[in-house]
Amino acid sequence: PCVLVLHGPNLNLLGTREPAIYGCTTLADIHRAMEAQARAAGVQLESFQSNSEGELVNRVQAAASEGIRFIIINPAAYTHTSVALRDALAAVAIPFIEVHLSNVHARESFRQQSYFSDLAVGVISGLGHEGYALALTAALSRLAQAQD
Ligand code: DQA
Repeated sequence: PCVLVLHGPNLNLLGTREPAIYGCTTLADIHRAMEAQARAAGVQLESFQSNSEGELVNRVQAAASEGIRFIIINPAAYTHTSVALRDALAAVAIPFIEVHLSNVHARESFRQQSYFSDLAVGVISGLGHEGYALALTAALSRLAQAQD
């Protein structure tokens, strides 16, 4: 089984981007921790970040033929704008968890609408980088359950 972790625009800047909101952990730190967690469970994990909506759509479409069984996605600003990325996830029908570092419900009103949450298995928002570890814990237990 294989898990794909997708990161939307500006998340490549984690660590230096508005650290009071997004924390000091870098995307490389997050990837390293998730890879170790997946490896310990005998699961392959791949991460992909893009600032481009089309590249994220293409990555989701490719996941279907690559045998990706679960997606963890922080769509970043595309959370609030992208019907295209939503439609891609609906098209491949791979279960996914939506993660946000910040608590989007405690911020500007435009962040309180998500094009993803109603399709997601679950949503984690406001727990910083720990949210990714928690999402992966949930994904791994679902994959293990599906196996037996
Ligand atoms: C974010 C929240 C979004 O509103 C914002 O556009 C981001 C990051 C988060 O992880 O808290 O880029 O998804």
